[in-house]
Amino acid sequence: MADITLISGSTLGGAEYVAEHLAEKLEDAGFSTETLHGPLLEDLAPQGIWLVVSSTHGAGDLPENLQPFLDDLNEQKPDLSRVRFGAIGIGSREYDTFCQAIEKLEASLKANGARQIGETLKINILDHDIPEDPAEEWLGSWKNLLNND
Ligand SMILES: Cc1cc2nc3c(=O)[nH]c(=O)nc-3n(C[C@H](O)[C@H](O)[C@H](O)COP(=O)(O)O)c2cc1C
Repeated sequence: MADITLISGSTLGGAEYVAEHLAEKLEDAGFSTETLHGPLLEDLAPQGIWLVVSSTHGAGDLPENLQPFLDDLNEQKPDLSRVRFGAIGIGSREYDTFCQAIEKLEASLKANGARQIGETLKINILDHDIPEDPAEEWLGSWKNLLNND
């Protein structure tokens, strides 16, 4: 099993690129990673460290490729007490449902016993042409939290 499993939810690829970029940075730092774009719950072992990266679409909705994962979490209520996770949302402040998809994912993961490491990063694409930049900065402190946890 990889040290860190990255899980992305994306419509046009923005969040996927961020997840892939972070996976590369984590590998550079000596972690092994696995990156899953729009996985189902059954694709994941309920243990280890997950880093969830999701954009928001519709009116506060998850991208279609990650909605089934959230549905599974809410319906199957797996025991995630052996999972620690980090969370990154990508969205636009133009919407009053800014980054609601990652908020829903975070709430559901916690409701199933997963423990969050660090604060959720919410990237406003109006402020950041390249969302990889704030994500990489956040990753620096997240990695330290992982090591000290
Ligand atoms: C039709 C549409 C609806 C959107 N709705 C929201 C929203 O409710 N909240 C939000 O924060 N961002 C919203 N966004 C902004 C996207 O999250 C943002 O463009 C993001 O970079 C898309 O990333 P992706 O390519 O990974 O899907 C919306 C964008 C579009 C095109």
